[in-house]
Amino acid sequence: MRKNFGQKGVFTAPLPVLLIGTYDENGVANLMNVAWGGQCSEHHVALNLGHERKTLENMRLKKAFTVMFATEETMVAADYVGIVSGLKTGDKVTKSGLTPMRAEMVDAPAFEQLPVTLECRLTSIREEKTGEVRVVGEVVNLSAEESVLNEKGRVDFDKIHLICFDEATLKYRRIGEVVGNAFVEGNKIRKG
Ligand SMILES: Cc1cc2nc3c(=O)[nH]c(=O)nc-3n(C[C@H](O)[C@H](O)[C@H](O)COP(=O)(O)O)c2cc1C
Repeated sequence: MRKNFGQKGVFTAPLPVLLIGTYDENGVANLMNVAWGGQCSEHHVALNLGHERKTLENMRLKKAFTVMFATEETMVAADYVGIVSGLKTGDKVTKSGLTPMRAEMVDAPAFEQLPVTLECRLTSIREEKTGEVRVVGEVVNLSAEESVLNEKGRVDFDKIHLICFDEATLKYRRIGEVVGNAFVEGNKIRKG
């Protein structure tokens, strides 16, 4: 037996815990937590934002933002920047304990404690009739701390301790172990 929920409680899984970094007009760093977003083409990310976000103001101003991934170590700070708005508190990054630093190629902050950063130029901001805002950015640089690279120089997920968001139970979960090889496992059926 299946239960139908209709549109109530819709989610996809796993949802990421993205952290979106921006600067305001005074160069003060802001950070917000975004679950409804991800990579939407080889060099683009798409985000779905509510319309009352300091992040949106900053994106419109600077035409740039960064995308980072929350880790077990930064989970508390990641949740904090998702429950407090820069529109109300001003600088929330200092209180979060995270340390901003300039990104290499765009006018937006990276953070010392967040080892992987996508540096994005704003491509489009579209306001939907629902009041939500769809943001697309072009990734112009991926930067990563050397300490999280493997012997081939690629980002090693085992070294980052990434978390994802479980919208069904409103929990943060660890991203787990390798269970197979993408684009390979299906051959067991195709060739069988
Ligand atoms: C787990 C989690 C996921 C969230 N996902 C989103 C999201 O996808 N889109 C969005 O607009 N807000 C999302 N939020 C809420 C924002 O992070 C929150 O409104 C934040 O205060 C906005 O910050 P700002 O106004 O300083 O930009 C999420 C919050 C949490 C805790």
